Amino acid sequence: MAQKGETLVEVKDLCKNFGVTIALSHVDFVVKTGEIRGLIGENGSGKSTVSSIIAGMQPASSGEMFYKGKPWKPATMLEAQKAGIGMIVQEAGTIANISVAENIFLGNYDKFKNGPIINKVAMISEARKALEKIGVTNINPPATMTCRNASSSRSPSACTTTPNC
Ligand SMILES: Nc1ncnc2c1ncn2[C@@H]1O[C@H](COP(=O)(O)OP(=O)(O)OP(=O)(O)O)[C@@H](O)[C@H]1O
Ligand SMILES: [Mg+2]
Repeated sequence: MAQKGETLVEVKDLCKNFGVTIALSHVDFVVKTGEIRGLIGENGSGKSTVSSIIAGMQPASSGEMFYKGKPWKPATMLEAQKAGIGMIVQEAGTIANISVAENIFLGNYDKFKNGPIINKVAMISEARKALEKIGVTNINPPATMTCRNASSSRSPSACTTTPNC
């Protein structure tokens, strides 16, 4: 793991166009290990766009990114998650009628698989640890996801796939 204070993510001259809409125009910034950075801007200023490009949700139109000192161009969110970059999307990003634990590990069930069987006891136990890591003790991992607890599953989800979290 990178040492505290080292450059972790670097974005250089990043541009993103959606047709005639210029969402990002020559954006530069650096995130160091152990830092918490806020992106502040009015609606439509490009906060979600830049975050989603770093997290592999969509490509940039131009520019460069570096992660742990190496060029960074994730093709998918799963690729980014596996490398340690997760994103909690602005929209709820959860699926109703499956458990909180299943939502937390969505797309990442392989670690609990033994052949075709998913070890749900282990998944629930890991989900509980992920929730506790961010101070959530009032949500039961085996409970079925509803609108009321939807917003709480993506933060622990990012922590389970983001070692730098
Ligand atoms: N998929 C898309 N297709 C077309 N235009 C898009 C798309 N995604 C974003 N945009 C446009 O890009 C610009 C930046 O949008 P973005 O969602 O990144 O802003 P934001 O800062 O996250 O806004 P908010 O504060 O409302 O969340 C806006 O003009 C938006 O309409
Ligand atoms: Mg946004």
